[in-house]
Amino acid sequence: MSLRTAAAALPSRNAAAVPVREFAFSDLDFRTLAQLAYDHAGIVLSESKRNLVYSRLSRRLRGLGLSSFQAYREYLADNTVEIEGFINSISTNHTKFFRESHHFDHLRQHVALGFAKSMAGRGGGRLRVWSAGCSSGEEPYTIAVVIKRDIAEIRRHDVRILATDIDTEVVGRAARGEFAEGALADIPAPYRGYFDSGSARQSVVARDDIRSLITFKPLNLMKPWPFSGLFDAIFCRNVMIYFDHATKMALVDRFAQQLKPGGWLYIGHSETLTGESRMLELVGRTIYRRKT
Ligand SMILES: C[S@@+](CC[C@H](N)C(=O)[O-])C[C@H]1O[C@@H](n2cnc3c(N)ncnc32)[C@H](O)[C@@H]1O
Repeated sequence: MSLRTAAAALPSRNAAAVPVREFAFSDLDFRTLAQLAYDHAGIVLSESKRNLVYSRLSRRLRGLGLSSFQAYREYLADNTVEIEGFINSISTNHTKFFRESHHFDHLRQHVALGFAKSMAGRGGGRLRVWSAGCSSGEEPYTIAVVIKRDIAEIRRHDVRILATDIDTEVVGRAARGEFAEGALADIPAPYRGYFDSGSARQSVVARDDIRSLITFKPLNLMKPWPFSGLFDAIFCRNVMIYFDHATKMALVDRFAQQLKPGGWLYIGHSETLTGESRMLELVGRTIYRRKT
C-alpha cells in the first residue's frame, strides 16, 4: 500500500475528534447542562468532562426513551423533578471505608477519646458529627465504628452522625448499610465485627447499633441547611473539588459557623483552602479547627 493510500485509509483528524455518538450532543447541549449543574449544585463541569457527561446522561436518555440531548433539555425544562435524576447521573460518588485514614486516627484521638475522657464515666453527653457529601455511606459508617469503639455505653449519651448528599440514589443505598463483602478489606480488623453477613450474596451489612447512630438525608450543600445545632466535627471530603474557588470559600465559611468553637473540619487530601476562613486554623494535614 502506498503512503498516500495508507493515509487515506486512516480516519481524518476531524473524524477522530468527533466521536460517533448514539445521541446528538451539541455545544449548546453541553453548555446548557453544565450551567444547570453549576446553578443547582455548584458543580463545575469543565470542557474536559464533556465525554463523561455524555456517557452518564446517555443512560438517562435511554431510560426516559428520549432520542436527543435537545429533547432531554426540553424534558428537564418541563419536569422540575428531573433535576434530581440529572444530578444523580452526573455526580461522582467514588468513596471507600477508612479513606484517608489519618482523619480517623485524629477523630479517634480528639473526638471519640476526648469525649469519653471528658465524660469520665458519666452519661448525658452530646456529640454531633456531620458527613457532608457522604456518597454511598462508607464515610459515615467509618465515623460510626470509630466513635462506637471508644465510647462505652454509647446509649447513655446523645451521639448522632448526620450523613447527607445531594444524590438521592446514593443516600438511599447508604441508609440500607449493605456493602460488597470485598469492602471489608478496607476496614481495619478491630472494626470488622461491626458488620454482619448481608442478605445479598457476598455482602456485609452494618450492625443495627451502628446504623442507628446515623441519620441519612438528601441535602444540597448550596441550599439553606435545616439544622440549628452546632457540630463537634464536620467531614466534607472530596466534594469541594467539584466547586470553584468562590463557592468553596463560601461553603467553608458556612461550615465554620456550623462548628462548635474548637470543632474540627476534615477536607479531602487533594483540596486546599487558600485564603482560609477567618474562623478556622489549619492544625494538621487537611484538618482545620474552629478558633475559640
Ligand atoms: C467523591 S464523593 C465523596 C464521598 C466521601 N465524602 C469521600 O470522601 O469518600 C462526592 C460526593 O459529593 C456529592 N455532592 C456533589 N455536589 C454536592 C452538593 N452540592 N451538595 C451535596 N453533595 C454534593 C456527590 O453527590 C458525591 O456523592
